[in-house]
Amino acid sequence: MRRAKLSIIGGGNVGASCAVWAASKELGDIVVLDIPEMADTTRGKMLDLAECGPVERFDANILGTSDYADTAQSDVVIVTAGIPRKPGMSRDDLIQTNVRIVKSVAEQVVEHSPEAVMIVVSNPLDAMVYTAWKASGLPTHRIVGQAGCLDVARFRAFIAMELDVSVEDIAALLLGGHGDDMVPLPRYTSVHGIPLGQLMSSDKIDACVERAKGGGGEIVKLMGTSAYYAPASGTIMMAEAIIKDKKRILPCAAYCESEYGVAAPGTPGYFVGVPCVLGAQGVERVIEVELDEGEQALMKSSIDHVKALVQSVCETFPELA
Ligand code: NAI
Ligand code: 2OP
Repeated sequence: MRRAKLSIIGGGNVGASCAVWAASKELGDIVVLDIPEMADTTRGKMLDLAECGPVERFDANILGTSDYADTAQSDVVIVTAGIPRKPGMSRDDLIQTNVRIVKSVAEQVVEHSPEAVMIVVSNPLDAMVYTAWKASGLPTHRIVGQAGCLDVARFRAFIAMELDVSVEDIAALLLGGHGDDMVPLPRYTSVHGIPLGQLMSSDKIDACVERAKGGGGEIVKLMGTSAYYAPASGTIMMAEAIIKDKKRILPCAAYCESEYGVAAPGTPGYFVGVPCVLGAQGVERVIEVELDEGEQALMKSSIDHVKALVQSVCETFPELA
């Protein structure tokens, strides 16, 4: 049986961590590609990872490279290429640099792996998924962005810390873009089936919501650069769902038109964070949940932010409009 092939573009903090999680889950053969100036470093990192195989007990071919030919016929390609934010920067401040990088990456990825599902991670996420879609020409179900898996993991982690219970027992839902206006939904959050409101005061719930929204910034402030273990872990959860055709319901940036009222009838859609079924085809279905008035207002404001980001991409790079 042929092993699945996973390529990761950008072998920095998030990309290399993705390779580690993917190897530990034995998802398949792994190729990590970075720019030519980083070729030896990337080769070295991946050789180092391959040497963990006997101890961690995974069988996989693991390669660092700067040649796209090595990524050919990948089943899944993860794009982490681009600059991360530094203290004082928002994700949106990265847009000019990262559009150029992600556009050129997406064009080369699709040339070598036209059948792949592409998972975009580079920030600002919602604008980068759009950029990768336009530049690659892939069908919308084969382009998806990672943000919600990370954001909801943070929300679940903070609730578990507050209640002093296992993270495994927290189920939560989160919508919207990967900005500080993301929309965690306490009404759809439970602890082993018990509605969150029965176990936590509304003040404490609000504090967990706010901490999840600012979770990226909290780490940038501490480390001077952005997070990578949890972002990579969320990304590999998506890759695993696709490679193993698991049909998992995960919050991802997926293409929406009428869903959640994202686009007016007859107008193009946007990639927005929504729960979707992830399987071998990529985004196989978007799941719509009922929102009350307050939740709808928060979702609308998050969608408006995504639209503004995409508009700024199209104004600077008219070829992507
Ligand atoms: P990093 O600086 O550690 O790694 C980025 C890598 O991309 C570098 O090794 C760089 O050489 C490489 N690169 C740059 N241009 C390239 C090109 N044209 N082709 C191939 N490789 C290229 O940064 P880190 O921390 O890994 O973050 C990567 C991106 O992911 C950033 O934009 C960051 O904001 C974003 N991010 C997104 C998250 C999410 O949840 N969506 C979470 C964490 C980070
Ligand atoms: C995060 O949320 C920076 O998007 C990255 O950690």
